[in-house]
Amino acid sequence: MNFKFPIQTLNNLPTPYYYYDMDVLNATLDSVAKEAGSYGFKVHYAVKANANERILKAIKDKGFGADCVSGNEVKQALDCGYDSSGIVFAGVGKADWEINLGLDNDISCFNVESIPELEIIDELAGLKGKKARIALRINPNVNANTHHYITTGLEENKFGINQWDLEKVVECLSKLQNVELEGIHFHIGSQITDLLSFKDLCLRVNELQKWFISRHIFPKVVNVGGGLGIDYERPDENAIPDFTSFFQLFDEFLELLPGQELHFELGRSMVAQCGALMTKVLYIKSGVQTHFAIVDAGMSDLIRPALYQAYHKIENISSDLPNEKYDVVGPICESSDCFGKAVDLPQTKRGDLIAIRSAGAYGEVMANRYNLRDLPLAYYSDTI
Ligand code: LLP
Repeated sequence: MNFKFPIQTLNNLPTPYYYYDMDVLNATLDSVAKEAGSYGFKVHYAVKANANERILKAIKDKGFGADCVSGNEVKQALDCGYDSSGIVFAGVGKADWEINLGLDNDISCFNVESIPELEIIDELAGLKGKKARIALRINPNVNANTHHYITTGLEENKFGINQWDLEKVVECLSKLQNVELEGIHFHIGSQITDLLSFKDLCLRVNELQKWFISRHIFPKVVNVGGGLGIDYERPDENAIPDFTSFFQLFDEFLELLPGQELHFELGRSMVAQCGALMTKVLYIKSGVQTHFAIVDAGMSDLIRPALYQAYHKIENISSDLPNEKYDVVGPICESSDCFGKAVDLPQTKRGDLIAIRSAGAYGEVMANRYNLRDLPLAYYSDTI
């Protein structure tokens, strides 16, 4: 990321705000498109990572589809110009109105997570005289070796259909008139940095494909979800994740049937590094051992450190004095409202501008109004 503006320009914007470097975003998207495209793989961007209109439109303009997990995400994708044929709808608890919205707009596929959900989609599609395309989200029981809050593909997680239930699901499918099996879907977790977890997923998918073939079922699409991690420690050195190795691994280990398509739902890896949360230092307060830099952004603006003990690199872009250690904390009445402990920062004073990096994914979109704070604004490098 390149703060290519005079500090005065960034300083004059009302903090806290999300700053998006559109060059980093576009370079990342070009890399995904090139690497996935070279194998003919299709990527639906996971809208949950960042549903900001400018970002969504930029992603749509590069030809990606949208992976949505709520009716409002489907609406947002449609409003931003995504074609309904490029929209997939996942989620463990789709409400009837959300299913109806998907049906009315002829979205490309519902990722289904249980028999009761399958039956409701069948019923609602029947009432509209439509046939819903569905993919079965199967819990592959593969360990993603990531934070337990963002591991999704283990048997103990709430997501997906467990393998021992597949027989029943397939039997149920054969009786339903208004749904059509389009594919099989997997997702093992998020912020996965050890590619071997994806290899395990490929091997499991290969086994499951054999199970389907033995029952004369040939899913047209295999969707392996998202999850590719990013480098939170070195956002500048590794601004663009290693999409080459990621897609290569699937090409090498996943055995597709003739004519079968391979789909992905990447979120974080496409948008994390283009965003930073910009905040100003309100006060420096010295404790017994620690200096606190109290900033005007809080966990309501970026909840990841409080919720997942997530690390985000913190920079003071106003000062180049010698380093000292600071706990960088927000103004919210919770001890967990802390962006980093014992952070090395150049000597910091009131009014300095701080960048909390790699915040383009699961940042702005998870902001809330706790303590009745205002939602953070967003600015873009190409329109400041
Ligand atoms: N597909 C499904 C079914 C998912 O559940 C997710 C993310 C994705 C795709 C996109 O995964 P990604 O490529 O972004 O890893 N708020 C958490 C992350 C939650 C991820 C939820 N599912 C965080 O801030 O780390």
